[in-house]
Amino acid sequence: MGRKLLLEYDHVPGIETFDVYRKNGGYRSVEKALKSMSPEQIVEEVQKSGLRGRGGAGFPTGMKWSFLAKPEGVPRYLLCNADESEPGTFKDRYLMERIPHLLIEGMIVSSFALGAKLSFIYIRGEYMWILDILEKAIDEAYANGFLGKNILGSGFDLDLRVMPGGGAYICGEETALIESLEGKRGNPRMKPPFPAVKGLWGCPTVVNNVESIAAVVPIVNDGGDEYAKIGLGKSTGTKLISAGGNLVRPGVYEIEMGITVEEFIYGDDYCRGIANNKKLKACVPGGSSVPILPAHLVTKTATGEDRLMTYESLADGGFASGSMLGSGGFIAFDEDQCIVRNTWNFARFYSHESCGQCSPCREGTGWMEKVLHRLEIGQGTMRDIDLLADINKKIEGNTICPLGDAAAWPVAAAIRHFREEFEWHVTHPEEAQMRNFGLLKNVIVA
Ligand SMILES: Cc1cc2nc3c(=O)[nH]c(=O)nc-3n(C[C@H](O)[C@H](O)[C@H](O)COP(=O)(O)O)c2cc1C
Repeated sequence: MGRKLLLEYDHVPGIETFDVYRKNGGYRSVEKALKSMSPEQIVEEVQKSGLRGRGGAGFPTGMKWSFLAKPEGVPRYLLCNADESEPGTFKDRYLMERIPHLLIEGMIVSSFALGAKLSFIYIRGEYMWILDILEKAIDEAYANGFLGKNILGSGFDLDLRVMPGGGAYICGEETALIESLEGKRGNPRMKPPFPAVKGLWGCPTVVNNVESIAAVVPIVNDGGDEYAKIGLGKSTGTKLISAGGNLVRPGVYEIEMGITVEEFIYGDDYCRGIANNKKLKACVPGGSSVPILPAHLVTKTATGEDRLMTYESLADGGFASGSMLGSGGFIAFDEDQCIVRNTWNFARFYSHESCGQCSPCREGTGWMEKVLHRLEIGQGTMRDIDLLADINKKIEGNTICPLGDAAAWPVAAAIRHFREEFEWHVTHPEEAQMRNFGLLKNVIVA
């Protein structure tokens, strides 16, 4: 079992309350930061830690913080992205539900580092019960002097609010999130300007994922160098993985970066193998938007190396034979799962969630959904498979935000690795209609 930096106390009864959290070492980083560190020193520690954004893109957090513009007299904002709507991803939910004070602690230290005096947690609209948990925890933090005016006598003031999201996947894209927070429809903005220069209400803003902000707590407590000792290469620290699909023990795991994918799927400390003694057919390692990997590329790369749970190893081979760590939404498919049906299922999600601003995404995701549906039900043609590849190319890279890419990549990868299965649906239309292919039970698609 690897080290735990975030979920060390997740099973302690009452850890969601201030008193129990504090008794287990909670809020130490706030004391350390406010009493003995400057904001610049905290940014430096985060840079040293090598922490990369846990929301999906893996952009270095310290570098993002260093880009924040600091014009005189202009407020700065820290926004926590708790929108978590990517199918297969439910790690932030677990963290906020079990240890809400860890996120609040991270928000206080990070806001201090960035010079934000008003910060927000933008939480997925469907997570209403967690909004209640967070609000209760925030009230406790105010009551104990960790939020509000002159925190711990340091002169630092911070107000923290939780905002329910607009009920759309697109609101997790950082500029759409900002629009939504401003009370508008959650449509992504053109970049540049980036939020670090012009974000919430036109002011410099940092948007970070829940897990990224929580990771600042152990970084401040133990130092960036200590954090960077865990993991491998440029994938430092620990990572929360939400594991779903046909696994013996699905759930949320904190792993040390660098363990093998094989250990993660089959190890006793993790998922304990494929459920019902079935064989692994494929795996989506980082949420529905990353390329699917067939079984032979899940535990080994195309060159025969062990596949590791790191940003680099999961991407090894590029899109030809690799995938991405993404948001850590790990989905395993057993031998009975139909790739065409699951690809259609994901495409249905993206078509529903496209905000409609960019024509290639608005039209293309809908076309892909329709073509995949007719293939799935045995009414497709061989030309439809090529048509999908063609629509794909027209979406990828041609939209304001990466939702278009997120919709295109899984379809392209499914055809690349499982073309014969798509063709089978064309050559066996009656069986395709009759066979009772199961949707993955653990994958929640709106
Ligand atoms: C369509 C779409 C949805 C996204 N949803 C989320 C989300 O739910 N949570 C999240 O942290 N990042 C999400 N992102 C990524 C954010 O735009 C942004 O990169 C991230 O919040 C930055 O935080 P990080 O650097 O800590 O990862 C999404 C991106 C896109 C394009």
